[in-house]
Order: sequence, then structure tokens, then C-alpha cells
Amino acid sequence: MELILDTAEVSEVAEIAAWGVLSGVTTNPTLIRRSGGDFIDTVCQIADLCSGPISAEVTATDVEGMLEQAHELKRILPKNVIIKVPCNPEGLEVCRSLSNDGIGVNVTLVFSASQALLAAKAGAMYVSPFVGRIDDTGEDGMQLIREIMGIWTHYPQLETKVLAASIRSTEHVIECMKVGTHACTMPTKIFRELITHSLTDIGIEKFLADWSAVEAEGRSHSS
Ligand code: E4P
Repeated sequence: MELILDTAEVSEVAEIAAWGVLSGVTTNPTLIRRSGGDFIDTVCQIADLCSGPISAEVTATDVEGMLEQAHELKRILPKNVIIKVPCNPEGLEVCRSLSNDGIGVNVTLVFSASQALLAAKAGAMYVSPFVGRIDDTGEDGMQLIREIMGIWTHYPQLETKVLAASIRSTEHVIECMKVGTHACTMPTKIFRELITHSLTDIGIEKFLADWSAVEAEGRSHSS
């Protein structure tokens, strides 16, 4: 499963990229706003730190405007930047056009299996179902991932990757792995939680204490 970071904080991308496990980064207008940075400059810095696909979202709402923004972003941003469009009729039309031009598209704000399939048929590189926002409504967001992954198994010719988004917990990530989800985008906090285990910390402490004892006894060199 591709592990993708959902942030517009350059320092967080540097932190997780250093682990050598980062497959890409997703940004959105809210994350850019929160970061306080300039959109183009921020995406350029992120794309420098991670060679995988970096999603940059268009904000126009009409087809012509979205296409214009997308082509401009592709012109000025590094090659690994892909275009994020909303899952609506305009987004599908833009997705088809960009994908015909060989430009990678991430269709975002997916809340149903039918939307995911339509985005795939429009040539999306990724479709992004939003797990946490479905949970927020009182429904089970993971059920949508299970449903989409189940459908995908019937159509092996589908090349579109399912990118679970709006991830709120490590349990979400593990559930995504269990059903073979292609990719998962999560905040830095979740990445940090995924690598942390109290028994690992206790184990390190114990090994270090024992090693100090070995050194104190003068047994740390073989000669
Ligand atoms: C994905 O591409 C989105 O940026 C993101 O996962 C949205 O998550 P949120 O629901 O926590 O805002």
C-alpha cells in the first residue's frame, strides 16, 4: 500500500520523507491555508522533498477554468505534481481531458462507490474516498473502502488506484491494508503513531541499560 502524507507543512514532509517510506503527498486548499505558505512555493518545496506524486488541487468550478489552472500548474510546477479535481460532472470532464493529455489526476471528495467508478472510467490515476468525513456523519467510512475494493476485484482492467483519504486513526490505516487498498493518505500525526509502540520504547531502554552494564564491566570490546 502506498503511504501518502496529507499535509502542506514542508517540515512535516521532510520529517516523514527521511524515513524512506513516503510514496507521495496530498494537499488541498484547507491545508495550504493552514500552512500559511504561498501555494506554488509550498508545492515546489514539497515536490523537491518527495519524488512521488504530489496532489495540487484546482479551485475553479467550471471546466474551462479548471483546465486552464491545471495546465498552468503543470507548466510551472515540478513533473511529479498531479492535479486534484472534485468528483462532480465538471471534475469528470476535466479528468478525462487531462488524462487524455497524459496528466495524472486525483479525483477527490468521493463519497460513494458510483462516484469512484465514474472517476476511474474518466481516467483518474487515483480516486479518493473520504473515510473520516463519512464517519463524521455517523456512518462507517471504512465500509465504503471495503465496497470499492470489492468492486475493483471484479474489474482487474481498472488501472485507477483507490486512495483512502480523510484518515483519522491508525485503525483506519490497518483496515485499509487488510482489504488491499492501493494507497492511503494521512496526517503526520498518524504516521508518527504508526511507528510508535510502547514495547519498542521499553525494549530499547532495556537493551541500552544492559549495554551500559556490559560497558561498565569492561566487556564491550572483543580484544
Ligand atoms: C485528501 O486528499 C484530503 O486532503 C484529506 O484527506 C481530507 O481530510 P480531512 O477530512 O481530514 O480534511
